[in-house]
Amino acid sequence: MSASKTIGIFISEESIQKRVKEIALEINRDYQNKEIVLVCVLNGSFIFCADLIRQIKLPVQVEMVSLSSYEGTQSSGEVCFRLDVKQSLVGKHVIIIEDIVDTGLTISFLLKHMSLKNLASLKLCSLLLKRARLQIPITIDYLGFDIEDNFVIGYGLDFDGRFRELPYIGVYGE
Ligand code: IMP
Repeated sequence: MSASKTIGIFISEESIQKRVKEIALEINRDYQNKEIVLVCVLNGSFIFCADLIRQIKLPVQVEMVSLSSYEGTQSSGEVCFRLDVKQSLVGKHVIIIEDIVDTGLTISFLLKHMSLKNLASLKLCSLLLKRARLQIPITIDYLGFDIEDNFVIGYGLDFDGRFRELPYIGVYGE
């Protein structure tokens, strides 16, 4: 980070924690008497997923996936797996846990991939959505915050690998 850059608090730690509890309550209610699998999209979602799972009062497992855009084709929507789930998800109730949906291209790829796995059900939970940036329609079943088109960092989100440790979400600016 250059010395001239500042980080403004955009969503406070308290607001995030309150919203995480609300989302967990919804999930607990929607999946009563069921077992669920949270699929955490690395790296950005690890903190959100860790906080969320500790509020889940259901039998729950966690799987990790990691996706990346092919080199040089970031805007083309061509995405590939760096890491896929380790177990069969056939017949499982799966919730994908994402940090932020921006253009929607990454999550669209993952949703399509998951929909071929004969799951009992599939839902998407994203902490953040930049609605104005969406290039394809995406249904987010559990959404934390609908935000403006700013580059945000903290609470798992990075800029150039940094700032994931911040307990709040900040705007990375001049
Ligand atoms: P999409 O495919 O354009 O929806 O991109 C989603 C991914 O881009 C997220 O999982 C993040 O890794 C990254 N991303 C998009 N916007 C931001 C941001 O404001 N801050 C940090 N990462 C972002």
